[in-house]
Amino acid sequence: MIKPAEFKARRQQIAKIIGTDSIAIVKAKDVAIRNGDADYKYRPESNFYYMTGCHEPHSLMIICPGYEKGDDMLFCREVDHHNVIWNGPMLGLDDAKSKLLFDNSFDIKSLDRLMPEIMKGRDKVYFMLGEDTKLDNKVVEWTNSVKKEKWGKSQAPHELVSLKSYLDDMRVYKSKDEIKCMQKSANIAAQAHVKMMQTCKPGMYEYNLNAEFMRNVTNENSQPSYLPIIGGGENACILHYVNNNQQLQNGDLVLIDAGAECDYYASDITRTFPINGKYSKAQKEIYNIVLDAHTAAVAKVKPGNHWNEPHDAAVKVIAQGLIDLGLVKGTLDEVIKDHKYAEFYMHKTGHWLGLDVHDCGDYSVDGLWVELEANMVLTIEPGIYISADAKKVPKKYRGIGIRIEDDVLVTKTGSKILSDKVPRSIDEIETIMEKSA
Ligand code: GLY
Ligand code: MN
Ligand code: MN
Repeated sequence: MIKPAEFKARRQQIAKIIGTDSIAIVKAKDVAIRNGDADYKYRPESNFYYMTGCHEPHSLMIICPGYEKGDDMLFCREVDHHNVIWNGPMLGLDDAKSKLLFDNSFDIKSLDRLMPEIMKGRDKVYFMLGEDTKLDNKVVEWTNSVKKEKWGKSQAPHELVSLKSYLDDMRVYKSKDEIKCMQKSANIAAQAHVKMMQTCKPGMYEYNLNAEFMRNVTNENSQPSYLPIIGGGENACILHYVNNNQQLQNGDLVLIDAGAECDYYASDITRTFPINGKYSKAQKEIYNIVLDAHTAAVAKVKPGNHWNEPHDAAVKVIAQGLIDLGLVKGTLDEVIKDHKYAEFYMHKTGHWLGLDVHDCGDYSVDGLWVELEANMVLTIEPGIYISADAKKVPKKYRGIGIRIEDDVLVTKTGSKILSDKVPRSIDEIETIMEKSA
């Protein structure tokens, strides 16, 4: 759990950055309609949650350093007993102050009326410029409404600034409690992966494994951090496969990319295992290249190394492996320089991980790769995908898709794999699959 004091400290940090001539606004996203009058389950937008600890829609946070009514304020809904009967407990104005530690809170219905007074005399408005047209328009409307007040034009903000890079820079470093949440979501997904390995049998359907994943994750009061990918046989080569509706065939592999979410922090884990519990010789050959690439990439995760180094290490191992199997031709340098490996390895080796599965944060700045630092969390996820239609490839390899993905914390001295509880080597996986759940 992230404590209210940590959310408050984040707001204070932004207050310090923007100073007393500015105001910052972060808005909760709206409820999304699924179809007809049925909504999607509400999940707060990550930046809004990161700054507030508030789970509710119809809310908006303001940081206004030095303002007489409070440095930080939450506009949210008043507790409405009719709504409580239908939808359950609400935050309300009092709890916004006592539980979320806002200096002040106001009814969201009074937002348009109070904004000119709050914005008055501030030069700059920081918000997620360009991310939500409705908010973009509102900020302009509020700015104009200051001009119409008796204070006059000189009191209206005259600069709109994106808050994105400031929040990105904060979110990329995880606190102790954030790391605890991420460890928990990795543990929950890890035990679900183990259970899927242990229940898998030829003849089952991909959705049966999905059900097993959901059973394990929801039993821990968690939920998937993204739509699970459960690809049997050649479906493993479809990178964003989410249909999960085909039968699992004896002799094939199944690739499962599935993570859990705890306190909105994501895990993102992939394993590829044999449906009947034993890898074939051809499957082992490809698997071990990907595993070696994974090991080489993880070894490059340490402070002082740069973002590209794990990827470059993985590419080197995969390119050499593909050359050794005769799947690509040329020297190692040529295969890497000409991206010949990319027919079989077409994505990058990882991404930042946090409140969003593809978390915010730069990968390069001014053409230079970002340096890895302690408390950053990233995924390492090399893979090889050989299309069933790859006519130039020996038949035994066609339709094999393998990815191994783990969540890796950069520590002071190196790294820690948060998702280490799922077996990764062929022997470990075959052994665990012998023991049914
Ligand atoms: N599950 C999405 C990814 O691995 O990036
Ligand atoms: Mn990933
Ligand atoms: Mn993934």
